[in-house]
Amino acid sequence: MTSFLESKIQQFRHITTPFYYYDMALLSNTLQRLKYESDKYNFTIHYALKANANSEILQLIQRYGFGADCVSGNEVSKALDTGFEADKIVFAGVGKSDAEINTALKNKIHAFNCESIQELEVINEFAANMLMKAPVALRLNPNVSANTHKYITTGLEENKFGINQWELETIVERLKQLKNIELIGLHFHIGSQITDLSAYKSLCLKINEFQAWFLQRHIALPHLNVGGGLGIDYHQPDQNAIVDFGAYFKVFHDFLEVLPGQTIHFELGRSVVANCGSLISKVLYIKNGINTNFMILDAGMTELIRPALYQAYHKIEKLTNTEEKSKRYDVVGPICESSDCFGKALYLPTSYRGDLIAIRSTGAYGEVMSSNYNLREKVKAYYSHELL
Ligand code: LLP
Repeated sequence: MTSFLESKIQQFRHITTPFYYYDMALLSNTLQRLKYESDKYNFTIHYALKANANSEILQLIQRYGFGADCVSGNEVSKALDTGFEADKIVFAGVGKSDAEINTALKNKIHAFNCESIQELEVINEFAANMLMKAPVALRLNPNVSANTHKYITTGLEENKFGINQWELETIVERLKQLKNIELIGLHFHIGSQITDLSAYKSLCLKINEFQAWFLQRHIALPHLNVGGGLGIDYHQPDQNAIVDFGAYFKVFHDFLEVLPGQTIHFELGRSVVANCGSLISKVLYIKNGINTNFMILDAGMTELIRPALYQAYHKIEKLTNTEEKSKRYDVVGPICESSDCFGKALYLPTSYRGDLIAIRSTGAYGEVMSSNYNLREKVKAYYSHELL
């Protein structure tokens, strides 16, 4: 069977590799599904720009009326420039700089997700200078395991993120003096690439406990932000191109105790954009060892660092000469590092110099994390509507 990407080979042959290719029809379908499933419960979605901040991608997401989740002043500015409404922008991050806080205040964003007492004091001071109140959600560390890679687990006490339970009493006391802070809610984010939905059930139960703690102190919280982290199926990107948003939202509907009038916010990144992107690369050389055949690509860890950094799996698909007998390869890049490897001992059709390869599910944390290490050029992105 010819895959969707194979049908694009004629166009791909004319483009300098490596490059990112985005299937915008799939992104549209994903956004429609996300909207449908979240609207069922009146949930508010903020797309996490950190996953992919390409203008074309952002413009499409913004058209569905979603908000934005930003982690830098530049992301806040980019979201605004793309047309995301300021009052749908949330701004997170454990180390917001003075300039970034001022940018966000000036633009009257929906909420700062705050991570420490000191940060609250700084935001209070800058808000006072602008004669305004800063809307703040406290990012709490729920100490819930996300059962994911340790580098992308964020909700454990050992992680740098969030305010710990034992600091809450002090924070609430301090907030009484911080007259330019308006506490609007709580924020959580336990990690990324979470495929075990029971982690979200545990999160909901923990949030209920926190909420009860605040209610006992007569503190109303109009806004609960449960973060993002929903994982995708990296192994079967065609069969499961769109994640089961329905099952994910249902966990929150079933287990989160929502107060009358309270709004529930989500910050999804990967699950929105990962599967619409592929990194397209060419085979430069085949190098045969005694035990290992190396397939050397023109894409490397500079374009996609996830395998080197997290030992992440991405499906590697051969687009040309697909009928050839299968052979075992280590698929590697050209960078001077042994970690520059996309997959070991993979069985792929026998390959030749010039063959085209797709590294799948790279729409999230692919291009945004690219670097120019070895003084490599930043690669270009192409969108399906440009290559008809
Ligand atoms: N909200 C907060 C506060 C976050 O820190 C993150 C991701 C998100 C939302 C979006 O999470 P998502 O829905 O995309 O899982 N570079 C890593 C992932 C790092 C995630 C960082 N935080 C990777 O390539 O797997």
